[in-house]
Amino acid sequence: MVPGDKSLSHRSLIFAALAPGEYSLHGMSAGADVHATASVLQAVGIPLERGDAHRAWTVGEGTFGEPAAVLDCGNSGTSMRLLTGLLAGYPFLSVLTGDVSLLRRPMARIAEPLRAMGARVDGRSGGRLAPLVVRGGSLRGIEHRSPVPSAQVKSCLLLAGLRCDGDVVVREEHRSRDHTERMLPAFGVEVEVLPDGVAMRGGQSLQAPAERTLHVPADISAAAFFLVLAAVRPGGAMRFPGVGTNPTRDGILQVLDAAGVSLSRENPREVAGEAVADLVVHGAELRPFDVGGSTVPRLIDEIPVLAVLAARCPGISRFRDAGDLRAKESDRITQVASMLSALGVRVDEFEDGFDVHGQPGAPFAVGASIDAAHDHRIAMASAIAATCAAEPVPLVGASSVDSSFPGFYATLERCLVR
Ligand code: S3P
Repeated sequence: MVPGDKSLSHRSLIFAALAPGEYSLHGMSAGADVHATASVLQAVGIPLERGDAHRAWTVGEGTFGEPAAVLDCGNSGTSMRLLTGLLAGYPFLSVLTGDVSLLRRPMARIAEPLRAMGARVDGRSGGRLAPLVVRGGSLRGIEHRSPVPSAQVKSCLLLAGLRCDGDVVVREEHRSRDHTERMLPAFGVEVEVLPDGVAMRGGQSLQAPAERTLHVPADISAAAFFLVLAAVRPGGAMRFPGVGTNPTRDGILQVLDAAGVSLSRENPREVAGEAVADLVVHGAELRPFDVGGSTVPRLIDEIPVLAVLAARCPGISRFRDAGDLRAKESDRITQVASMLSALGVRVDEFEDGFDVHGQPGAPFAVGASIDAAHDHRIAMASAIAATCAAEPVPLVGASSVDSSFPGFYATLERCLVR
């Protein structure tokens, strides 16, 4: 079973916390990242309760107040960046920290614009690294051009903008995922989508939507591991019901098509303003493919597992314009290269991407163990690659999968015995 969309789960918790009334959230991600967002919201005064098998939450109405302790965002960049933006609008002190991976990730991309809005944001390394110390309060508007397409930066500034005077305008070279600007209007907040970004009048309050139950579709970024599994181990058709296919997230579907994977989107529908479909992989006649340009933000999280697909395609597949992969939970360019090298696959590394020299046919020979490097997506991509290996592959840090997909290995085992 594919877990609920992680990006939408974070946002559902945050918007339900900001809006008046009580909300039921269903189909949520049970990952530790989303749990981190919930714990921070609880620590600042929002009543929250987790329901059956962690996939449901009830969010009550609370008053935001100064947290008594440091706020732990764990491994989750989305928690830290979105919640820092949210807390920048409140006149109290918040300190946000995380695990070794999160403490290495760049925070200047949010700290600088939040300072320009009038928040006091400090951190290690001159305010560029967490822990972040935020003293929020009266904020002014901003027109910001994001140095990288980033939904976390965009959402951070929109959340700060809910409590600022003036307008918030965020521009980016290529459109990043647009869940925040889709969800805000459902809570009565007017947002204008621009050709190169988004604009919002500051200081708008969220209103309760007519429907107090929010449904989160299955996560295309989690389904990606099994879409690739189905492509590299052809058997019968594999079906994935109710997967989010938001056009700012569905780049993997075009790449699978370019790679010769026969895939259909069945029963397309809309759930709470988000496109959803049942995805069916029928089979594959693999060929190499290229990824770059404006497609990159539409599949940024899928690149590690697409590299595994490339490793089973005949010829060279190229990944470019993806330098921000170095700033994810790990340096994903280096980690993809060492993951595939451990299996005897040649990868040429570049500053903004890599080439994979595919090795179709014979199983991969296992030359070394793989280190997940505190990165759930490297762990899961490695496990998919390992299904094409001649012998078991030692994976260090396998439990990293819990950030987004607890139960990943059990799901994989079920797929393999089908
Ligand atoms: C996310 C945005 C992306 C993505 C991350 C989730 C979000 O990060 O990689 O997994 O939910 O906003 P960036 O905003 O850094 O590109």
